[in-house]
Amino acid sequence: MSLPNPIPSKRIAVLISGFGSNLQALIDACNHCYINAEIVLVVSNKARVKGLTRAAEAGIDTAVIRAQEYPERIDYDRALADLLADYSVDLVVLAGFMRILSTDFVNTYHGRMLNIHPSLLPKYPGLNTHQRALDNGDKESGCSIHFVTDELDGGPIILQAKVPIFADDDAERIAQRVNSQELTSYPLVVKWFCENRLIMRDKKAWLDNHPLGPNGYAAE
Ligand code: GAR
Repeated sequence: MSLPNPIPSKRIAVLISGFGSNLQALIDACNHCYINAEIVLVVSNKARVKGLTRAAEAGIDTAVIRAQEYPERIDYDRALADLLADYSVDLVVLAGFMRILSTDFVNTYHGRMLNIHPSLLPKYPGLNTHQRALDNGDKESGCSIHFVTDELDGGPIILQAKVPIFADDDAERIAQRVNSQELTSYPLVVKWFCENRLIMRDKKAWLDNHPLGPNGYAAE
């Protein structure tokens, strides 16, 4: 009798621009075998950010691709794609990567690229999400994890986590509350992907062969 084939460990590249708390959560989850994958490369568009230090301390290859070196977006994204191809990456994880990616790049990683965004999408794509939630008098905020398509912060949602907004909150306090949710939510979603349980098909996210609703998994 032969045993079922184990799922081969996936090769992940994480793209960052800054502090890298989500990167750290993913590094820890891989190191503890919660996620069946290896982070083989961390790319930043900014030099000397904390996320690069975290990657180096974990023994992960790092690269900095600065926008100044590639004034044309298409050239930047080609350099990025070439680098990821060198590492035979299965999954691209955007973890606070503050650049818009070209359609060509997005198509190359169709169904194989995830993003985390600090709002309950489709509310507040783009920047300053927490201040915008405060200004609108919202009573809750959160994070959204979604597949990346060429619509900014607009791909199919996989999972959202909600937090309350209190009367005396400021944007920084909400950001911290949301971030604490991000650090458990993102590893869970990446784990699903690496177990071949999560796919994108027909412009929807599917988990365990079931299409997820417009707000993703476990939303009301
Ligand atoms: C996270 O809050 C993430 O949701 C946000 O950047 C932060 C990165 O934090 N992403 C975006 O705003 C993307 N539109 P980190 O560097 O500590 O992981």
